[in-house]
Parts: sequence; C-alpha cells; structure tokens
Amino acid sequence: MSRRVAVIAGDGAGPEVVTEARKTVDALDLDLTWHDLPWGTDHYHEHGAMMPADALDVVRQFDAVLLGAVGHPSVPDHITLWGLLLPLRQGLDLWANLRPARLLDGIPSKLDGRPKVDMLFVRENTEGEYSGVGGRAHQNLELEVGIETSVFTRAGVRRVIAYAFELAEQRRGVVTSATKSNASRYGYVLWDEVAEEVAAEHPDVKLERVLVDALAARMVANPSSLDVVVASNLFGDVLTDIAAVLQGGMGMAASASVAPGSASPPVFEPVHGSAPDIAGRGIANPMGAIWSAALMLDTLGEGEASQRLMRALEAVARDGPKTGDVGGTASTAEVGDAIAERARNG
Ligand code: NAI
Ligand code: MG
Repeated sequence: MSRRVAVIAGDGAGPEVVTEARKTVDALDLDLTWHDLPWGTDHYHEHGAMMPADALDVVRQFDAVLLGAVGHPSVPDHITLWGLLLPLRQGLDLWANLRPARLLDGIPSKLDGRPKVDMLFVRENTEGEYSGVGGRAHQNLELEVGIETSVFTRAGVRRVIAYAFELAEQRRGVVTSATKSNASRYGYVLWDEVAEEVAAEHPDVKLERVLVDALAARMVANPSSLDVVVASNLFGDVLTDIAAVLQGGMGMAASASVAPGSASPPVFEPVHGSAPDIAGRGIANPMGAIWSAALMLDTLGEGEASQRLMRALEAVARDGPKTGDVGGTASTAEVGDAIAERARNG
C-alpha cells in the first residue's frame, strides 16, 4: 500500500538529520512518498506564524509526519513551540509520546561500567503541565503574576497508563509510574489512583509508583532496573533527556507521538531540538532521526522494513562511521550514507 509522509524538517539541525532519515528509508525501496511542508521559523518570519492556519487539515491528509526540530535564537522558544509542535500534538490528540532508550553496542556510555540501558518511556503528550492553561495579570507592573495550571483528566491519564501496561506486557512486565504526589496533592494523586486501577486490570504486569526525583536518581544509579516508565508531560520531558544521555547523548534519542486507534497521523521526531550551537556544520548525529524513521515504518505496518533499518543503524553504531558526539569523526551525511548502504543490502 502506498504511504504518504509529510516532512516538517524545521529549523537548525532539523533539516540536516531529516535528510539522512529520508535517505535511509529511501534505501529500503518502499512504496512511500515524501511531501515537504516548509513550516518553522522561516515561515514565521515571512508570514507571522510557524505554520498556516489550516495546518492540522493539511497534515491529516498524510499517513505520518516526520519532523526534525523547531526553534531558533531569533524567536522566543515559547512562540516556536506553541506555534507548531504543541498544536500538532494537541490538535491531533497524539496522546502518547513513546521514547525508547537503549544503549546500542559501540555507542560510548556516559556512565562507568556500561550498564544495560533498555527502557521505554511513555510520556503523556496532550495535557498535564503543558496544557497551556494559565495567564498573566498586572503585566509589566511590580505586582505582575504568571499562572500556569496543570490539567489532569481521568480519561487522559487512563489512556496513557493503560497503553504503558499494554507495552509492558510485550516487554519485561514492569511499569514504573512517575509522579510527585507527595507535594502536589491533586493531579498526581488522581494519576496514582488511576495507575492502581489500571494495574488491577493487568495482574501480569508489576506497577511501581515512584516519586519523580527519586526516579531521576535511580535512572542514573540503576538504569537496568527500569523497563517501561510512564510519566506526565513535564516529567516525561525531563526524564527522557536523562535517558538520552544514558543512551549516548541527545543525538541518539528517538520519539513517536501516537494515538493508537485514532485516524490522526502520528508524528515521528528525534528527541533533540534544533541544536543551534552545531547547526549548519554537518556534524549533527542523525541516528535519533533515523531511529525515529524506523519507529515510523513500524507504525505504518512496515515491520520488516523497520527491523532492517534498525539492524543497519545498530551495525553502524557498532562499526562506524559515527559523529563526534558518540566518539567518531564522521559527518552527518557520512553516517546517513553508511546506514542507507547497510539498509539497502540488509
Ligand atoms: P537541543 O536538543 O537542541 O541541544 C542540546 C544539546 O545537545 C546541544 O549541545 C546540542 O548541540 C546537542 N545536540 C542536539 N542534537 C544533537 C545531534 N543530533 N547531534 C549531536 N548533538 C546534538 O536543545 P536546546 O539547546 O535546549 O534547544 C535548542 C532549540 O531547540 C530551542 O529553540 C528549543 O526550544 C528547541 N527545541 C525543540 C524541540 C523540538 O522541536 N522537538 C525539542 C527541544 C528543544
Ligand atoms: Mg524535551
């Protein structure tokens, strides 16, 4: 079946890594077409918006979206994020953000002793601390106030925790749920209650409820003890940057924003941002973007192609060439070429 993928390459290092992800998928010779959507900071400077007003209708015409990153020093980050990324996730109701964190052979670990790192983060993706509810009063006066409200709905919490349990059933059977329900008494307590309810429906999976600060410490001290971690929007965001470092750095981490059972096109993107400090130099690591493309193929029903691409990625992680952030000297394109070559012959 023919697949149509929208590409939002975005800003900074985004287009550099997306070019390589496309290259590696093209090497698999699938019936898949790419459609560039020139949205991002350039679009903002030209039209006053990160993407057009009918953006959601546009992306709904596709089977999936492959995204690089958005963000540029010339525009405040809350404008770029709230102008593109968050409206896509919320408008398409892509309520689960999956982030696998696995330390591949050949990728240097930032921790001594090379621990086994194989976790799957399931981050709530549409509400919680990033619901966008709040406001500012007394603007520019001494008594100015900024209010940011977290929104936790029973249905929103339940669907993402239930999905984490389903994924744990296919893995090692442990769900670790991160909250801060000692200090925050409402939303996270609701979250904990729902987690217990869902756990009762899945006797084959063990639920651990852990406070997020203790979990951050445990991720570093004992990462191999974690299997599936389910967390709110903010906590998932923060914990997965730690996870990215455990798996070799920001350039390695992949993500998928999905809504299983819905018709919305899922969005696949590396965890990292536009990396303005290294953008334009051809040295960004494309592996996180390529891994995201492999997640995309799997979600599109191309499981075999996805595995071929992951095997190629793992072979290049082991044998090189690699970019500087993971101990090599290669360029972004050299890594993409090598993975494409392996995928073609794999
Ligand atoms: P960042 O992820 O862009 O960079 C953090 C550090 O990781 C930098 O030192 C960077 O050089 C390094 N890094 C990132 N990607 C890399 C890659 N592929 N290979 C090698 N090294 C890599 O996060 P930062 O600096 O906090 O944000 C930069 C911009 O990106 C901001 O405008 C921010 O709002 C935006 N951003 C966008 C995201 C998205 O579009 N999904 C996610 C995170 C940040
Ligand atoms: Mg983040």
